[in-house]
Amino acid sequence: MMTYLLILQIMMFTSLFVIYKPFRYYCLSYFFGFLWKHKELAKFLGVKFESNLTWKPSAKDVQVYVSGIYPTLIIKFLQIKDFDLNDVRNQIMRQQIGKAKNINITSYLDELDGKEMSLTKFYEFVSICVLKELDRIFLIFKNEEQLSMFNKHVSIFADVFVDVVGDWKLGMKKFFKHLDSMWYIYKILGELDPDKKLIALVSHISSVHTFCGSLLKNLKENVEHNFINSNVGFLPYLYKGELYLMSFDFSDKISPQSPAFGPLSRQCPGSNIAYNLSKSYVQFYNDFDFKINGSPIYHYDVINRVQNRDKIMLSFKKKVK
Ligand code: HEM
Repeated sequence: MMTYLLILQIMMFTSLFVIYKPFRYYCLSYFFGFLWKHKELAKFLGVKFESNLTWKPSAKDVQVYVSGIYPTLIIKFLQIKDFDLNDVRNQIMRQQIGKAKNINITSYLDELDGKEMSLTKFYEFVSICVLKELDRIFLIFKNEEQLSMFNKHVSIFADVFVDVVGDWKLGMKKFFKHLDSMWYIYKILGELDPDKKLIALVSHISSVHTFCGSLLKNLKENVEHNFINSNVGFLPYLYKGELYLMSFDFSDKISPQSPAFGPLSRQCPGSNIAYNLSKSYVQFYNDFDFKINGSPIYHYDVINRVQNRDKIMLSFKKKVK
């Protein structure tokens, strides 16, 4: 009897998987990293592949694929009630009008002159510079204390977030190891406006990580491209009912409309913030000599990241002009 039931369940699962695409995509969402590495198998299962440099989906039919347990948990964690990303998208874009161009963190970064620190500390330092500046421009936090608490815990949160997306077992382990930081971030996020909390959080996860990660590469020319092109390998999209994995290929277009921010019809709503932050990064790069001690060990997954940040030491000296 048990065997028949089991066979029946397997048959039902298989039929649903083959016939009903939303169910198939939901199941596949747990294996995006694997499918990305095994494209032939993914294509066999109906997944399509595109590049951010060439893909032109129509705006009204495309969206980032956010089903599955992890995106749902992340959205719950962010506490965006009656989650409607389009509303928040529009609010973020409205916030930037006339304001994003005033973003400039060079005076904060100048404090690095003569300093030596691990890559971990460098992430934290850049993070506080970015947060202070974004708070100055967009009035994100209710008070100084909230800002400094947020900053104290956001790097750990970002680490956990990046791991949950890239390697959920590692991510969940870190989540429970750092429950106190998770709690503080959760509490503060509950007190901030939806657009402002995303400005604070996503800027950290995207722009700060892109900048700190890029500095380790042997950048020679066109350094500015590197501070816009993120370390995300690919992103899943739903387009006209089909599942796409879109690769992020290196774009040399430097503007808030660069393909680094997604296909032109559906771009990152924070691209003006990211673009203006990247200008400060470029200035820092031109103004400073810096030495890197240690070899980064990369973990390549959905989001590429450096594993041994505590072991990489950086030292900074401002160039005499
Ligand atoms: C180097 C920096 C950044 C890169 C390369 C980047 C890239 C992207 C890309 C490719 C998407 C998916 C686009 C879509 O189809 O919706 C996205 C979404 C998003 N980005 Fe960024 N981003 C960056 C920085 C930022 C910043 C600073 C913010 C701050 C507000 C931000 C906020 C968002 C939000 C809220 C979404 C989700 C929008 C949605 O799915 O509707 N991003 N980003």
